Amino acid sequence: MCGIMGYIGSEPAANILLSGLEKLSYRGYDSAGIALHENNGLQMIKTAGRIDALRKKCHQQSLFGTVGIGHTRWATHGPATDLNAHPHADALRRIAVVHNGVIENHAALRSMLSDRGCSFVSDTDTECVAHLLRLLYDGDMLHTLLRAARHLKGSYALAVLCADAPDAIYCIRCGSPLVLGVGENAGFLASDIPALLPYTRNIAVLKDGEAAVLRRDGILVSGKNGSSRRAETFRASWDAQDASLGAYPHYMLKEIFEQPQILSRNLPANFPPVPDQVLLLGCGTAYHACLLGAYYIETLAKLPAHIEIASEYPCRAHFPQQNSLCIAVSQSGETADTLSAARLARSRGMQLVSLTNTLGSTLQQTSDISLITLAGPELSVASTKAYTAQVMALLQLALHWSNTKLPLENIPRWAQEALSLQDAIRTYIEPRVNKSLFLFIGRGADVITAREAALKFKEITYIPAEACPAGELKHGTLALISKGTPVIALCTQPEYLQKTLISLSECRARGAECACFCLPSMKEEAEKAAEHVFVLSDMPPLLAPIVSIIPLQLLAYHAACALKRDVDKPRNLAKSVTVE
Ligand code: M6R
Repeated sequence: MCGIMGYIGSEPAANILLSGLEKLSYRGYDSAGIALHENNGLQMIKTAGRIDALRKKCHQQSLFGTVGIGHTRWATHGPATDLNAHPHADALRRIAVVHNGVIENHAALRSMLSDRGCSFVSDTDTECVAHLLRLLYDGDMLHTLLRAARHLKGSYALAVLCADAPDAIYCIRCGSPLVLGVGENAGFLASDIPALLPYTRNIAVLKDGEAAVLRRDGILVSGKNGSSRRAETFRASWDAQDASLGAYPHYMLKEIFEQPQILSRNLPANFPPVPDQVLLLGCGTAYHACLLGAYYIETLAKLPAHIEIASEYPCRAHFPQQNSLCIAVSQSGETADTLSAARLARSRGMQLVSLTNTLGSTLQQTSDISLITLAGPELSVASTKAYTAQVMALLQLALHWSNTKLPLENIPRWAQEALSLQDAIRTYIEPRVNKSLFLFIGRGADVITAREAALKFKEITYIPAEACPAGELKHGTLALISKGTPVIALCTQPEYLQKTLISLSECRARGAECACFCLPSMKEEAEKAAEHVFVLSDMPPLLAPIVSIIPLQLLAYHAACALKRDVDKPRNLAKSVTVE
């Protein structure tokens, strides 16, 4: 949701901003714009629609400015129109602002600023920031930005150009992502590291509440208390190739195929000590990783583990005991629901552990202990490699707490073998993409995989897909089955095999067309209940859920391709959901 890019250097800024915005487009957007220092003033070009439309508009002008900011907007306040697109400016067009986040007190600010004579041209919450900066401007924009922040409620990452300071970009963050990059005689800012990788791997992170000024010769960071320091950089372990498509047609396919390699990476072992109880929080796919994490923590470490969808956690009274740990799981580390639930858990006395894929993310900065998955940048909206990396990390944590060892070193090979099912899966799914419902079933850990499979499937195909614990079918969901409904069973847990196959037979008796993903020892039995059987490698059932999701990711992917969906950017969805 919303992406910010900024550049100061010696090259024309427009192209760098546009290609940075392209890199951020995975976050989801519906309009885009840039502002540049040009001829002693600010020039703004913006448009509803895609970055290509913005590129066209830019090419119609002569743009030479070497300092600029850009933005992709995911509409929240007001529709996706040219006027609502960022940047927003003050009345004199001497200050231009781009913003990611939500200014919660924008209505009060708008009325205060209107009373003082400001007239608004857009519906956005962001425009009030431009007018506020003008009102407070004291000749020093860094100082002004820090003062303005005292009036802002909500979450924001802001980048600002000021016509009085043609050799600077200003920025501030509070609860929304912003990373800085240091190049040779150049400075960059962006909502996410992948946008910077073609230019620099020297990255600096702003802490919440900090502001910075980017100049060609370096970046100065200023804290709330007025203290200043030169930005400290670290070298990103990701490179430009990690964030590019290579020979793959879609990021999702690339990311699915990266899993064997990612699952072979060892996590830094900074695990927290054993708590008395655990709460796991996450949204969407990360929530499913929490479900499997809880399964491992209970099974291996024998600890009570509660799981909550992050947006639901504030809706329940929860009285954690002493020595309770909250593990907040989020690929981006910026999901607003997860952040606010994690903060609440902390305020209820729990120690907060973050499990994220993004160094310097807000969740990471908010937590007491930070665990990082080494999945590399995930750019497809549909999360795949981040999920298996999260589950692997939670499994390693459970093993650490229980002092147990399992043959984790074989998982990459089993994952590779799962990828080899691709052709068979494509052959199965392509003729079935006209079906109006897909049902995924399983028991125990398998129903978690079924849930994740159904989410992936509906997210990118737009076909209704439901997951149901096999035993629950007869309590309602069975009514959905009619002739030819595809029912896909996950069978990797021997103790539940017979029961799941009976459920599958019940579906078949009602006209369903049944498929089953199982371990080799189960093939013969599975073939009696299902028309289509896909056999995974022989592996310990406890580890199977990390691998068995992979062919189902491929199932969703090939269904979406057959339907000619925008696989990496499914409609209505954003990669990083930074509003509650
Ligand atoms: O960045 P996060 O892991 O916090 O994101 C959470 C969900 O928004 C995310 O997993 C979402 O469900 C995916 N699009 C699913 O593929």
